[in-house]
Parts: sequence; C-alpha cells; structure tokens
Amino acid sequence: MERSAARARLDALWARGTAFLGSETALLAGAMSWVSERHLVSAISNAGGFGVIACGSMGPELLEKEIAATLAMTTKPFGVNLITMHPQLDDLVRVCLAAKVGHVVLAGGIPPGSAVRAVKDGGAKLVAFAPALVLAKRLVRSGADAIIIEGSEAGGHIGPVSLTVLAQEILPFIKDVPVFVAGGLGRGEAILSYLEMGAAGAQLGTRFAAAAESIAHANFKQAFIRASARDAIPSIQLDERFPVIPVRGLANAGTKRFLAHQAETLRRFDSGELNKEQAQLSIEHFWAGALRRAVIDGDVEQGSVMAGQSVGMVTAVQTVAEVIAELVGQAEDALMARSAA
Ligand SMILES: Cc1cc2nc3c(=O)[nH]c(=O)nc-3n(C[C@H](O)[C@H](O)[C@H](O)COP(=O)(O)O)c2cc1C
Repeated sequence: MERSAARARLDALWARGTAFLGSETALLAGAMSWVSERHLVSAISNAGGFGVIACGSMGPELLEKEIAATLAMTTKPFGVNLITMHPQLDDLVRVCLAAKVGHVVLAGGIPPGSAVRAVKDGGAKLVAFAPALVLAKRLVRSGADAIIIEGSEAGGHIGPVSLTVLAQEILPFIKDVPVFVAGGLGRGEAILSYLEMGAAGAQLGTRFAAAAESIAHANFKQAFIRASARDAIPSIQLDERFPVIPVRGLANAGTKRFLAHQAETLRRFDSGELNKEQAQLSIEHFWAGALRRAVIDGDVEQGSVMAGQSVGMVTAVQTVAEVIAELVGQAEDALMARSAA
C-alpha cells in the first residue's frame, strides 16, 4: 500500500469525526486549564487538528476575550470546554453562542439539562464526557451530539476506569453519535486501533501541552520531557472520611506535601481542633492555584503538574504540526506494514 492509500484509509476511518469537527484530522486537543488558550488552540486548528479553549475558572468577560482573540488567529473551527460546576455556566454558554462557537464541550460531571438545551437551542454542537455505558446512553438520549470517553490514564481529573476497558464497554454500543477516545494516547498506531474499534477520533492533552506553541513555562515542558509514564500518578487520599478528587499529575514535592497536609488535617480533626467541614475545606483548598503556579510560573516542584501517563511519549518540544504529522505518519505506517505482511 502506498502512503497516499494509507492516508485515504485513515481518512475513511475517521470520516465521521472529521465531518463532526469540521477539521482535516479527527485529532482533538483536550482542553487544559491555563494551557489551552488562544495560542495553542489556534495552532492546533491551523495545523489540521481541533483545538478546544479551556474556560476553567474564567468568568464570562475573560472567556469572551479569549474566544475573540482565538478567532483572530484562526479561521478553522475550534471548541470551548466549560466546567459544569462553574457558578456562571449559563452566562458562559451564552458567550459561546454569541461568538458562534460551533462546539461546546461540557466537562466535570453530567451536564445539567438546562445547559444542554441552551447549547443545542443556540445551534452549537454539544460534546460530553461519558464515564460509563449507562451514562453514555443517557447523554445521547438527552441530546449530546458526541461523546468523549476518557480513561484513567489521562492527565488532570480522572475516573477510575482505563481507556482499554471503557472502549470495549462503550464503542460497540454507542452508534448514534461519534465517540472520541482519550487518555494515555501518544502514538498513531494506538489511535488507529481505536478507530478500527469504532471510535470517530481521538483526544490528546499531554502531548500538546509540551508543544512549542503552548504558553506553558519552559520548566513545565522540561518536566514532561524528563518524566516517564510511572511518574504521572493520581492524587492520593489518606482517609475515606475526607474524599480527595483523583487528579493525575507528576509526583513532586507538592504531592508529598499534600500527604503531610492531609495527615496533619486528620490529626487536627481527630483532636477536635477542626470540625468535619473545616477539615474537608482545608484539604480541598490545598491545590487552589497550584496548576497556574506550575504552568505559568514554572514552579514544577510545589505546583500541580497535571499530566497523563502518555507523558513518557513526550521526548522533545515539537510544534503542533510536527506532533500531528507524527501521529498521522505512525497510523499510516501501521496500515502500510499490515498490507505488506
Ligand atoms: C495540564 C492538564 C490540564 C487539564 N485541564 C482540563 C480541563 O480544564 N478540562 C478538561 O475537561 N480536561 C482537562 N484535562 C484533560 C485533557 O483535556 C485530556 O482529556 C487529557 O489530557 C487526555 O489524556 P492525555 O493527557 O494522556 O492525552 C487536562 C489535562 C492536563 C494534562
């Protein structure tokens, strides 16, 4: 098989994804708070992928500015990721619709019906995360236009199940809408295999966070280049009375200090110095501002260096176009090698 035929086969495999996204490849760059802003998002969309702005804790005015700035840097489609527990979710949806953003990704829990309706009535496509088959079915019934299944290999906030298992549980049974796979993806062969299982495309975060166009601090990118898969660990909960939301990131002085902080908070709770609510808040507040400290300030020792297990496949700072070309090339190579066998 010639390379051009392999590319045609790849394009056929992810045709549903590219049609849905309006991009040349069905490679989404997962939204990453502080990282996925105008520069990275426009670079990804300009290179044939699909960039997604991370709204994170931004308010409506800042989001409006970020969308306008991104529109000035690309004519290609891109999306906006909103966190469902944001207190101004409805206003943020309105900002996206007013700016004619074509795709709104609702993350961080099952989206409220009001937000789903607002996105759809406003003419945008709604993308949601499904952590299990029943929830995927429910999301499709309630109007989701596409689903992302994100395995626990991913960077940032994670669920308990790996992509290997989620893909087997969900891909054969959700056919009405495109399903994108995410978590731990770093090479084109792996993406190809999920496409062959029925995925419409793939979402990657970690590999793009370290790209040349990413505004992440040089220390952040270097930490990614140095790290291997086993360094990207989920946050550890010391006591089930005080739940810790699982977040995958690189082990560092901050993750060690978090354990000591939990132990000290538990001691203060057990001695009656803190009540339950105060103790829980003290644990939850530990990481406040920590992602920004790592991404923007470059404090990769005390900050939160969110990263997926795919971090081991980050070996250099590459441009977004190089990353996409590499992934596409690996998928093509795999198809060519197979036809030659
Ligand atoms: C630094 C970082 C920040 C992230 N922030 C968000 C976020 O704000 N919202 C979200 O839905 N996902 C977030 N994610 C998850 C990514 O969008 C993506 O799904 C994930 O990185 C995929 O796994 P991978 O890193 O192994 O490619 C974040 C991931 C990283 C590495």
